[in-house]
This record gives sequence, structure tokens and C-alpha cells, in this order.
Amino acid sequence: MDEVRLQKYLAECGVASRRGAEAMIAEGRVSVNGRVITEMGTKVGPKDTVSVDGKPVKVERNKIYIMINKPVGVLSSASDDRGRQCVVDLVEGVSERLYPVGRLDYDTSGLLLLTNDGAFTQKMTHPSFEIWKTYEAVVKGEPNEGNIKRFSEGLVLDDGPTLPALLTVIGHKGNNAIVEVRIREGRNRQVRRMLEAIRHPVLKLKRVGFGPLELDPDLKPGAWRYLRDKEIEKLL
Ligand code: URA
Repeated sequence: MDEVRLQKYLAECGVASRRGAEAMIAEGRVSVNGRVITEMGTKVGPKDTVSVDGKPVKVERNKIYIMINKPVGVLSSASDDRGRQCVVDLVEGVSERLYPVGRLDYDTSGLLLLTNDGAFTQKMTHPSFEIWKTYEAVVKGEPNEGNIKRFSEGLVLDDGPTLPALLTVIGHKGNNAIVEVRIREGRNRQVRRMLEAIRHPVLKLKRVGFGPLELDPDLKPGAWRYLRDKEIEKLL
């Protein structure tokens, strides 16, 4: 490996996106050979030891890709300073340091990918790739044709307009509807906010699809498996 900028190195390790890595550096969480670095231009090479929060990180050669069915009530981050359970804690017997590919809310369940391949994470989460994510939600009441049309045109949220999205009513639960939502962005609590905007707030939310992958029906909440080579190829 040639020398690269510290934030690029951290992104390749899978620690965070480049922007996230810049924030970590600015916060004084990153050290190189034991010295905390806060300057963005710093370059690192193969002989340097880079640590985040005191723990060494490295670009993994043995790449691992996992699908997990995230349960409700588990954080999708790699660690938590308040000691709450994180999704990577559910993966036993894998010694490589894993990071989630994007996020699911604490109260959302379903398909989440975990990997130690930072470049893969960058690709899968970069807005320009517009990977479609599919969710099943139980919502209050039943969306009508007008709501469905608003989704297909894109909605205006407090952080700006969304890309066109898809909303389909696929069932009923008492007075409430079960809907499928497909979006190709990954903004914070986006599905909940979109359904809130059409006045059908979410009661329950589960991700069932990520790009060409579907949540494996054999995975009970908390269970995981390695992705198959074909699945990784399809994603890339
Ligand atoms: N949209 C949400 O609102 N929550 C998630 O967890 C994922 C997408």
C-alpha cells in the first residue's frame, strides 16, 4: 500500500465513510503510532499503526460479508459508548472486526449487511449508487391512491425533497395497513418520515430487501449467515 490520506485509510478499513472519518479525526479519536492526529492532510503508509479510540484498525485482506436479521432493540452501530447491545455482538465466531453497511433504526428489524470491506461499504452506501431498499411496514390507517402518487413523485421532508419512491398496500391488520415501501436513498429515519408526511405513521418497520438481496426467510431475528459468492457478485 502506498501512502494515503488518513481519512481514506480509515474508510478503507471500514471504520466510517470518508466524511465520517474526517469527523473522527477532528474529534481527536484517531492516533497514528500512538500520537493523536487532528490534521486532515496526514498521510499513512503500511508501517504505521492507526488506532481509533485506542484500538488498532487495519485494511482487512480476508474480506467477510454477512447478512443478519437485525432484531428490534439492537443498535446497528459497531460499538456503543453507553454499553447497549450492538448488532455486531450477535455475530459469534468471527474474529475480524465487522461494520454495518448503513444503518437501521434501533426500532427497525430486518436485513442488514455486515462487512470488514470498507470499499464495499462505501459503494453500497454512496448516494450515487441509488441502491433500492425494500421495507415492509405496518402503518396506521390505509394510504389511498393520492398518497401512493405522492410517494411516486417524491415527498418534501424537512431535509429536502426525496427521490421518487414506491408505496404499495399489500395487506391489512385490523384497521391498519401493511405496506411495502421502496426507496433508493438512505436518509435518517427516511421511511418513517415519509409515512409520517402522508399521515400514516409507522407502527412496525422491517427491511426485507437490499438491492438484489432478499432477507433470507430462514434467518430468525438475530441470526446471520455469510453471503454467497453469487450474492456478492450481484451486489457489485
Ligand atoms: N427508514 C427508517 O425510517 N428507518 C430505518 O431503520 C430504515 C429506513
